[in-house]
Amino acid sequence: MSEISRKGIIIAGGTGTRLHPSTIATSKQLIPIYDKPMIYYPLSVLMEAGIREIMIVTTPHEQINFKRLLGDGSKWGINFTYGIQNTPRGIAEALIIAEDFLNGEHCVLILGDNLFYGETFSNGLQKAMSLDDGATIFGYRVNDPSRYGVVDFDKSGRVLSIEEKPVAPKSYYAVTGLYFYDGNASKYAHMIRPSGRHELEITSLNKIYLSKELLKVNILRGGVTWLDTGTHKSLFEAAQFVNVLQSRQGIRICCPEVIAYKNNWITKSDIMILAKDLEKSGYGDYLLKVCDS
Ligand code: TTP
Repeated sequence: MSEISRKGIIIAGGTGTRLHPSTIATSKQLIPIYDKPMIYYPLSVLMEAGIREIMIVTTPHEQINFKRLLGDGSKWGINFTYGIQNTPRGIAEALIIAEDFLNGEHCVLILGDNLFYGETFSNGLQKAMSLDDGATIFGYRVNDPSRYGVVDFDKSGRVLSIEEKPVAPKSYYAVTGLYFYDGNASKYAHMIRPSGRHELEITSLNKIYLSKELLKVNILRGGVTWLDTGTHKSLFEAAQFVNVLQSRQGIRICCPEVIAYKNNWITKSDIMILAKDLEKSGYGDYLLKVCDS
């Protein structure tokens, strides 16, 4: 399967009101899920997909803190560009903010507060990476679909409908915060009109692809976990998930340093230098263990 080169976008703005007061003085995507900042989790998805050109979209006032954490990406062998969303006008606005950065290339957009994990997840990523035309979304079975964008599809995986927070959902499959687009995404994002809540909805963009019969859904089945972390309860549950998995298996998941090292983007001596600054939290020891194994 030949892969298409893609750029990545992490949208990490928003208001985080459901996490108040925790997110009054800081960005939601900078607070930790257990042992690392939230943004490491979506970042690791892009890195696992082999993407090295990544735009981080933030609010104007938080950009400086993201830069302090992530820098220009060179420490992990990647290249970060920063974009600003002045007001939270919706997730699809990321494709407009990133228009010059994308320059008509294929991309992957991921929400800064989404966690994906699972052995078989990378297969789905590779499959979506290789698709030339259109868009791919990822569906995940949930108990309470009304809280999400919901995708209905036929037996062959063809998307029949997508609806934003429907009262009577047509399926149990939520649309997760990971979207693969062809080079037309920015152009189509300009065609979207704001919704009733004054946002450029990502569902509206996906519906444009659907209307052109260019929308595919990839269902994340058994073994893959998708968590969003927008409330105190879901954030706590995500932290528990990471802790249980890591303590049980003696690993740490979604560490950018480890993925960069495994992808051969940084060397053993690079990772040893990074580990030095992190030794007191145990994170550094883990990095050393990985490059010694
Ligand atoms: P949401 O969880 O829908 O919104 P929010 O983060 O503003 O939180 P709350 O509902 O508690 O006020 O957003 C999902 C992700 O998308 C999250 O990472 C923030 C990001 N986002 C933006 O960056 N800009 C936007 O305009 C919107 C709507 C979301």
